[in-house]
Amino acid sequence: ADPTVQVPELLGSPLLEVRAASALPLPPALYLDADGRGRANSTGADLTAPAQRLPLQTALDTVKLEPVPEAGAADVDAAMQRLQAGFVAWNDTPVAQRAATLRRAADALDARLPEFCALLVKEAFKTQADCVAEVREAVDFLRYYADQAEAEPGLMQGRGVFVCISPWNFPLAIFAGQVVAALVAGNAVAAKPAEQTPFVALKMVELLHAAGVPADALALLHGPGETVGAGLVAHAFTAGVCFTGSTAVAQIINKALAAKSLPVPLIAETGGLNAMVVDSTALPEQVIDAVVQSAFRSAGQRCSALRLLCVQDSIADGIIEMLKGALQQLWVGRPEQLATDVGPVIDDEAHANIARHVERLKREARLIAESPIHDALPRQIRPAAFEIARVADLGEEIFGPVLHVVRFSGTVDDVIGDINALGYGLTLGIQTRIDSRAQRLADAARIGNVYVNRNIIGAVVGVQPFGGEGLSGTGPKAGGPDYLRRFTTEPALDAPA
Ligand code: NAD
Ligand code: ALA
Repeated sequence: ADPTVQVPELLGSPLLEVRAASALPLPPALYLDADGRGRANSTGADLTAPAQRLPLQTALDTVKLEPVPEAGAADVDAAMQRLQAGFVAWNDTPVAQRAATLRRAADALDARLPEFCALLVKEAFKTQADCVAEVREAVDFLRYYADQAEAEPGLMQGRGVFVCISPWNFPLAIFAGQVVAALVAGNAVAAKPAEQTPFVALKMVELLHAAGVPADALALLHGPGETVGAGLVAHAFTAGVCFTGSTAVAQIINKALAAKSLPVPLIAETGGLNAMVVDSTALPEQVIDAVVQSAFRSAGQRCSALRLLCVQDSIADGIIEMLKGALQQLWVGRPEQLATDVGPVIDDEAHANIARHVERLKREARLIAESPIHDALPRQIRPAAFEIARVADLGEEIFGPVLHVVRFSGTVDDVIGDINALGYGLTLGIQTRIDSRAQRLADAARIGNVYVNRNIIGAVVGVQPFGGEGLSGTGPKAGGPDYLRRFTTEPALDAPA
């Protein structure tokens, strides 16, 4: 039988007329993301209640960003000396005590949710829905890694000083996730946040110290990756590196580590060229909702974000029509306003890169639609979708709200082959109503996280361990059961029988 069997009754169905309902579901009273992230395994506090809205608005009025001092080479060395000495006592601290410290920090962060949300809005231009989801993800990391460490206390022997280098796009959740995983496993940590988002990192480190992490077990070093980051990687006391960021920087760090006299393990979580494959049996409204969330939420500034939508030819016209409608509905504006779906991108360099790519697509591809802008601000990119000819035309990760659409007339299996050939392997969406096909494609894809009939962003800690293959990372998956062990040494003694 032809595996690309069509379902003709869907074609021309009245469902294809639905348009406006497809934009991001962020009505005024909704603070949680559509997946209920946080409700799954966090505190379950009802953020939709009006009483909870006030603290967030108050925090937006009161929280102020402050400049942070950059570290020089001498600061890096002094911090590494201090951490090398501090490691011994922290690694000897009972695992239950280290886990309890993480739980105290989780409670403190949970209680300060409005303040940290406001910091994320101001420093990273996150929308309110995104910043609530991010604070809750950070709380989840703290509680999950505390539980994981306590489940295997005999394995939680640190390696020494772990260097944790993080990106600006999850300046709280990824920053905190890396740091507390390394800490609870017994390591001392030198943390280097992204240059764009130093203040939220500073506040998180202050919170961890207040919760009981000793000053000589955790140091924060601000500054450029090329100097401070590279200096930490090169330092003689570095016992491991946990990096999340671009594939290009992971390659630089990998080379620097390879030049050292002893092997130093690298955990690298990197970029993606993520696709969604839509066959002719897929539900069009479900596809559009998943596409809009995956491609445009967080202004497309997620490693997991959708870059390439591959649609079976027979339903492509209908999907493209609906996509045009959905793009008109996105609210592109001020991140501090609750109605906003898409805020500005992180900095001028990112803006220039994305704008250059859009200009090139306007010359070389077919523009499907661009969203209107509601409040004109610096560094805004209009969310846009373009039709391109082939999967292989998608060269590199463009970290913004730009979607590439490809029609395919061959088999869905061939499309998975084309996606695998891109070399990245972070997230993949499959939209089909044929169960056996979904399973077959998921098995054939060399991709870390495969989502069926839903969006492809927002992996939930402890439920959807997150991490890529190939150019997208080394593993282990963050928020999964294997993560902590990669921060540890093997136990020297056999466990008692
Ligand atoms: P980036 O690679 O530019 O920077 C990441 C961090 O590396 C920053 O702290 C930076 O200062 C540091 N750095 C830069 N050069 C360095 C060097 N030579 N030595 C040591 N450190 C150095 O990434 P970014 O722009 O901050 O973040 C966006 C990228 O991160 C995207 O590619 C995205 O896909 C990726 N990302 C991946 C994941 C994942 O889990 N796979 C999650 C979030 C972001
Ligand atoms: N873990 C984040 C997501 O799944 C990057 O979107």
